[in-house]
Amino acid sequence: MNLDALNKIANAMVEPGRGILAADESTATIKKRFDAIGVENTEDNRRDYRELMFRAKDAMQYVSGVILYDETIWQKAKDGAPLVKLIEQAGAIPGIKVDEGLRALAGARGDFVTCGLDGLATRLPKYREQGARFAKWRAVIDPTHGRPSYAGLIANAHALARYANLCQEFDIVPIVEPEVLMDGDNDIDATYAVTEWVLKETFQQLYYLNVALEGMVLKPNMIVPGKKAAKQASVEEVAERTIKCLKACVPSAVPGIAYLSGGQSDEEATAHLARMNEIGGFPWKMTFSYGRALQHAPQHAWAGKVENVAKAQAAFLHRARMNGLASLGKWKPDLEKQAA
Ligand code: 13P
Repeated sequence: MNLDALNKIANAMVEPGRGILAADESTATIKKRFDAIGVENTEDNRRDYRELMFRAKDAMQYVSGVILYDETIWQKAKDGAPLVKLIEQAGAIPGIKVDEGLRALAGARGDFVTCGLDGLATRLPKYREQGARFAKWRAVIDPTHGRPSYAGLIANAHALARYANLCQEFDIVPIVEPEVLMDGDNDIDATYAVTEWVLKETFQQLYYLNVALEGMVLKPNMIVPGKKAAKQASVEEVAERTIKCLKACVPSAVPGIAYLSGGQSDEEATAHLARMNEIGGFPWKMTFSYGRALQHAPQHAWAGKVENVAKAQAAFLHRARMNGLASLGKWKPDLEKQAA
């Protein structure tokens, strides 16, 4: 493991003014997104859609790295150029999702555990050779109805640490993503308590598995109430509670925190990140690693039509720029009116 090189990549991933595009939807997940815009889920359509983002040069200046799905890292653009090369030419770092989805964990109150450790040591060097310099593994934690169980929590934290240990062995920066879901009726206190527990246990397991914190990026949820909670929270409350929770749990050796959007609206995800960076006073960089909150607008502008590509790229540029500004604490709601 070359820790200096890992640290350099991790720092580049969270460079102020830029953040990560999570374009690593599995074939089943991108189908849901395409269904919403009436696009057939074919290999060519997936390629055309992702290609339009990677070729949007103005937008990519706000993107430090792109998380890819296995299919995409091997895919070529319409003109034959590897998609990975388009990302590199745009000045961003290619990354790869290496987990293989969820499986119910027996006897654990409905908790799931993330699969994909088997064979990972064989897959990682191939991805690196193909250009990946970082990876992602997502653990999913449901905070509703007495969850998570202790079994679910330990199994997920341990798998994250095993994955991160393997990534560093192959000089790949691990994005460690323990996601506490925001789909349920959990209030903001429940999100806080569960996130705190998950982060404490995750960093304990990372320590046990000899993971160098200087060579990783954390991708957590923000502290928001579930979508079905009786009481929603203000931007100020989310920003303050998220900073407080992370300060209590995340060692300062970690170079940066890149949040998932998790189902927040585009503008909420931007406003929360902006407010946190405006408040400041924490030891890590804070930026975005959004999937939905970056792609919802361009997907709807594109709708699978070649004549809409420029419009989709403009929508992508707008969201990337807004979030780039949020990573500097310089976003204001008025700037949203400058949308294309
Ligand atoms: P969302 O921003 O849509 O939550 O996706 C980010 C991600 O990569 C989840 O694993």
